[in-house]
Amino acid sequence: MPTLEIDGRAVTVENGLNLIQAAERLGIEVPHYCYHPALSISGNCRMCLVEIEKMPRLQIACNTRVAEGMVVRTTSPKVKTAQAAVLEFLLINHPIDCPVCDQAGECKLQDYYMDYGVYRSRFPLEAKVEKRKVVDLGPQVVLDQERCILCARCTRFLDEVTKTSELGIFARGDHCYIDLFPGKRLDNLYSGNVVDVCPVGALTSKDFRFKARVWYLEKIESICTRCATGCNIDLYHRHGQMYRFRPRSNPDVNQYWMCDEGRLWYKELQTESRLLRPLVRGESDFTAVTWEQALSRVVDTLRRVKEEHGAGAIAGIIGAKATNEEAYLFARLLTEQLGSELVAGLSWSPANASHDDFLIRADKNPNTRGLQALGVLNGRTSAADILAAVEQGAIKALAVFGIDLVTAFGQEKADKALSNADIIVFDTDHTRTTEYADVLLPIGTAPETDGTFTNYAGWVQRARQAFPPPGEAKPGWEVLSLLNAKLGGTEHMSSAEVFAELAKKVPAFAGLTYGKVGSRGALLPELARAAEPTMAQA
Ligand code: SF4
Ligand code: SF4
Ligand code: FES
Repeated sequence: MPTLEIDGRAVTVENGLNLIQAAERLGIEVPHYCYHPALSISGNCRMCLVEIEKMPRLQIACNTRVAEGMVVRTTSPKVKTAQAAVLEFLLINHPIDCPVCDQAGECKLQDYYMDYGVYRSRFPLEAKVEKRKVVDLGPQVVLDQERCILCARCTRFLDEVTKTSELGIFARGDHCYIDLFPGKRLDNLYSGNVVDVCPVGALTSKDFRFKARVWYLEKIESICTRCATGCNIDLYHRHGQMYRFRPRSNPDVNQYWMCDEGRLWYKELQTESRLLRPLVRGESDFTAVTWEQALSRVVDTLRRVKEEHGAGAIAGIIGAKATNEEAYLFARLLTEQLGSELVAGLSWSPANASHDDFLIRADKNPNTRGLQALGVLNGRTSAADILAAVEQGAIKALAVFGIDLVTAFGQEKADKALSNADIIVFDTDHTRTTEYADVLLPIGTAPETDGTFTNYAGWVQRARQAFPPPGEAKPGWEVLSLLNAKLGGTEHMSSAEVFAELAKKVPAFAGLTYGKVGSRGALLPELARAAEPTMAQA
């Protein structure tokens, strides 16, 4: 563990770190373009020059490893002159696009010019080298060759991470440009990540282009719920509308990346089919009612069925898109408040679901592992058994939470069962199952709900509520909490309260709190213990 001095402050860090990483430990920013922690060192942009005592020339921090006794200066006059010169060089041929560039507001050229540049240009505008603009690279990405600073982050991502090598650098000198290799399209499953690694506005997202200025958007930490990996994301939104998902780094889950399918998943969460008000079935069609009326109808139905047929005539099926908190409260409603043993989780994905050996899982449910850990999935009973019992008439009231049983079991099977009982559906959207509902309770999607999901590897991760559900819909945990209270249980005031109770009562989650889960997630305790080094290994 070498100790070195950076800008007069001592720091002791692990061997093998470079000077950008070591400075970061002290909260010192060394500006850089081509360096990216998940890619090989390229050392081409020269923006990270620093002064090192006893070395005659400035050195690039990205390719200089820490050493014992090193004395580094990142703000000396020599360094400042070099930084301004590098910026001036990079901007010589850069177009004056900021007013129309999607990267404006999060562009490293803009940021560094203000922090390390601010000089009068010595180059006439008309002398700039012109290159191609709006180059269509593939389904997700557009290239503007003039804006590129040739840092080679995109080519290294495609060479080293996806290993698909669609892009290359062509020509020489100030005529160099990024382009597709002949016959190639940038259409791999992770192509959107090149937009994230591009430090300037050269690579932009077709989906996000010209939709919003980034400084108007709010950002919240969340996770992608498109598959069982649960890639960490930043969710960008405004006035209850989502604009984009971008990957947030988590070395244990998704490193720095996410797939294109997940990146566009936000669109599926804000469709026209959203349920906006509680509905109850009238003579011919649904009637919109207040929450009080809808919940009373649910309670009356459940009490009546229990009185007439016993607790064994009530059952519930919950989809693995529900949060841990929702699954816990749903199971508690059925077992503790109503005395039924018939609660089953259902993790359904299409037979041809996309998957690979990197991030994309064929399980398109974000919480299969959570439902297993809670004992709801693969427990004493299955969703198929419950549906068969409904069909046979043994179950008279069925609660269905966040799963389309018609899609999962087929129209014929579902029709036979669902026409045979009182059906209470909790869902975000109209589905073929909601058509069978007697009471329809509108709930929030993951971005509209506070809660946790447990990914396939056992990482419990938080999704934070970005904005409230639309219309009169409520977060699922809140609806379940109200129902539990109406049936004599305690009412929870927040999902954090639900999680605290869950962690007390369910051994698989013992000791976990929202604080421990934090931004990076926490392993299920049993897995965390197994991962701890033994005395001998330590
Ligand atoms: S397109 Fe962006 S990431 Fe690729 S080399 Fe140019 S500036 Fe770097
Ligand atoms: S791999 Fe799965 S969790 Fe990650 S972004 Fe893609 S769909 Fe979302
Ligand atoms: S970041 Fe060091 S040379 Fe580019």
